[in-house]
Amino acid sequence: MTTDQAFHHTPVLLQAAMDYLAPRPGGIYVDCTLGAGGHTQAILERGGTVIGLDRDPDAVAAAGERLSAYRDRVTIVQARFSRLGEVVGELGFVKVDGCLWDLGLSSYQVDSPGRGFAYQTDGPLDMRMGKEGKTAADLLAELDEQELKRVLWEYGEERWAARIAAFIVAARERHPITTTGQLVEIIRDAIPAAARRRGGHPARRTFQALRIAVNDELRELRVSLAAARPLLAPGGRLVAISYHSLEDRIVKTAFLDMVSGGEFDLLTKKPVAPQPEEIQANPRSRSARLRAVEKA
Ligand SMILES: C[S@@+](CC[C@H](N)C(=O)[O-])C[C@H]1O[C@@H](n2cnc3c(N)ncnc32)[C@H](O)[C@@H]1O
Repeated sequence: MTTDQAFHHTPVLLQAAMDYLAPRPGGIYVDCTLGAGGHTQAILERGGTVIGLDRDPDAVAAAGERLSAYRDRVTIVQARFSRLGEVVGELGFVKVDGCLWDLGLSSYQVDSPGRGFAYQTDGPLDMRMGKEGKTAADLLAELDEQELKRVLWEYGEERWAARIAAFIVAARERHPITTTGQLVEIIRDAIPAAARRRGGHPARRTFQALRIAVNDELRELRVSLAAARPLLAPGGRLVAISYHSLEDRIVKTAFLDMVSGGEFDLLTKKPVAPQPEEIQANPRSRSARLRAVEKA
């Protein structure tokens, strides 16, 4: 994966992210979710210096190529953003002027069947953003029925969690579950027909839940937000774009905690959502919610 065209991703809430991060020439910013580098490029165009993190080696390679013209002001590191503090320290920085999280997956990841994130196309049940550790297929093979039900309920808010877990356990006794297509079939069989006709694709919540579990996404986010707190210089800002209620709740709680300590000011009383024009041009932006705080 080396070309921009193959590694496509339209940055979401780009103008709002820049308004709230307010990058300035000479300022140091961490893009915790580099992806295709869209937000980072906008920070660089405004004169900032960027440390860009992504756990996905494909993103690191593609963004490195895209941003090569800014080589002297951007450092790209393949790392989980829970390691934010260590990475910034290892690069020799003590304080930074802003951190950005644009959570979830890039379009490239979703649209590559080989990565296993998509329920619309058949592919291996992988779902690892960083290509290391256990795959979704491993979790489906190893978790007991109760644990499967908990994952689907807690991370997918899937009301049919118990039935889907039971169907997975019955199916894997017959045959290992290794492809997205197999899993979609199992979910279809588990959800009663009347319920299947409502609320979008029947596999959406299960896929979200497994992805969160495989990548330990919620813990990653909590640890990273906590790590950013002591890194910020006075006047520095934290900006987070989340895509579902579990992420948004974690961001909201962390930011309110910072504000209640008197150390930060809340910049977004309500989360910022995309305008209808952005949603029309890029339907994947639909659920985006941006929140921001400033270090006093
Ligand atoms: C929505 S994309 C970011 C897109 C980017 N803002 C752009 O404009 O191109 C999210 C990226 O965050 C990365 N990511 C998600 N969780 C991560 C984590 N815990 N640590 C590091 N990178 C992570 C994913 O691999 C993905 O490339």
